[in-house]
Amino acid sequence: MNVHELRSRLSKAGQAHLLQFWPELEEAQQVELYAELEAMNFEELHAFFQKATAESSQSQRDGVDARMEPVPREVLGSATRDQDQLQAWESEGLFQISQNKVAVLLLAGGQGTRLGVAYPKGMYDVGLPSHKTLFQIQAERILKLQQLAEKYHGNKCVIPWYIMTSGRTMESTEEFFAKHKYFGLRKENVIFFQQGMLPAMTFDGKIILEEKHKVSMAPDGNGGLYRALAAQNIVQDMERRGVGCVHVYCVDNILVRVADPRFIGFCVQKGADCGAKVVEKTNPTEPVGVVCRVDGVYQVVEYSEIALATAQRRGPDGRLQFSAGNIANHFFTVPFLRDVVKVHEPQLLHHVAQKKIPCVGPQGQRVKPDKPNGIKMEKFVFDIFQFAKKFVVYEVLREDEFSPLKNADSQNGKDNPTTARHALMSLHHCWVLNAGGHFIDENGSRLPAIPRSAANGKSESITAGVNYNLKDANDVPIQCEISPLVSYAGEGIESYVAGKEFHAPLIIDENGVHELVKNGL
Ligand code: UTP
Repeated sequence: MNVHELRSRLSKAGQAHLLQFWPELEEAQQVELYAELEAMNFEELHAFFQKATAESSQSQRDGVDARMEPVPREVLGSATRDQDQLQAWESEGLFQISQNKVAVLLLAGGQGTRLGVAYPKGMYDVGLPSHKTLFQIQAERILKLQQLAEKYHGNKCVIPWYIMTSGRTMESTEEFFAKHKYFGLRKENVIFFQQGMLPAMTFDGKIILEEKHKVSMAPDGNGGLYRALAAQNIVQDMERRGVGCVHVYCVDNILVRVADPRFIGFCVQKGADCGAKVVEKTNPTEPVGVVCRVDGVYQVVEYSEIALATAQRRGPDGRLQFSAGNIANHFFTVPFLRDVVKVHEPQLLHHVAQKKIPCVGPQGQRVKPDKPNGIKMEKFVFDIFQFAKKFVVYEVLREDEFSPLKNADSQNGKDNPTTARHALMSLHHCWVLNAGGHFIDENGSRLPAIPRSAANGKSESITAGVNYNLKDANDVPIQCEISPLVSYAGEGIESYVAGKEFHAPLIIDENGVHELVKNGL
């Protein structure tokens, strides 16, 4: 260890305080800290900090609101308004999948601070009757989609699954998949890679120590994806496999339609290189980013940057003008990703998030701040929309496709394990009703279900149906869970349920129909 040299590098970079506790450290701790600091590029970090903080304080963002334009109808596809096209998009998507042209990429490098568990979020069990984890649900949807593509196009195919983890989640994620035998997928088609980490900094750019011998490090945001793709040659791996496009999504959405054939087919038929799936924002004050154009360039504008009057603007059809709620569900072609990685990535700026960062105080005592004491720097996955040559937006129904797991049950009534579980069970209840099944109560009376959106008629489509108002007075849905191995999006369950009556809890899986109470399970 050349501590003298390191000390002088740190002094030059204005980070000399990082060796403040050096004399007190045990030898192993000194080795650890030396290795961590030795590997850091302080000039680069300084540049990131300067640019990120300048951008976040810049008045340029203030005027964004006035320069926003809604997504024009000609680049918008809608699962509810374009029903006559759904079949064609789905068929195109399944064809692409059958030709091994489609991959999925999971963003699973987050820290899940709000959920507050010590393991990766994908390993979370929201308490479904089957107790499947988010990872298992997603894996089984991939398996099912491979089968459906094969059934419709007669070609045995693979959807490679790229999983981005971080220094904090890599080992446990890989172990979990190995322990569960990749949930039936082939090991070589599940590709793990790791995103980068950046140190937390004080508001004046000093790197924060979490312990006397340890820097406070955090993943560099889900937009760290692009640097990680480059560092680990992931785009080359996609090209080697002949993949043409990728569906990128977040780990925490229990309803996510991985490699959704409609979304893929829509983007492919439109000739898009980049696409965003959105849900309709119906409440102007809902805190969700909005996909729109600013100065003619597509981007996501954060809720906090939009004035209330703008957020409340409605079009002639009564819909909010800025209604394209971003759900971090994206389509990218592989050539587009290659350009991003090779050309554009360095232009992406970090965003600044003010955080309460646990640290060591001047006397070496551990401090847990009660107000923000520093920043984390993050890139966002949607920051590359600006580079698209042909950008499209695909709108879907929230109750069909979006229910994120962000918070612990104890914390907040929104986006927690209970809401995620209820969303999945309500959806599966709808599937049973659409397929001609019924639920009955303990007296044998049929439980009422009131259609919520316009029926889209009987269809051969794999994803069709009516949504119902299913909640009872206590807001508790019927317990109903259909394994993704049986149905990807509501298709193929008629033979199990049509004309039949069930008591909840009901599970339909690859072994058949199980009424848990009736069977005393
Ligand atoms: P969130 O921003 O909701 O963060 O991530 P999170 O880590 O899940 O939760 P909090 O904010 O700490 O409570 C949205 C998606 O982006 C991924 C997450 O894993 C999740 O799928 N993500 C986030 C990354 O892959 N890397 C990151 O650095 C941050």
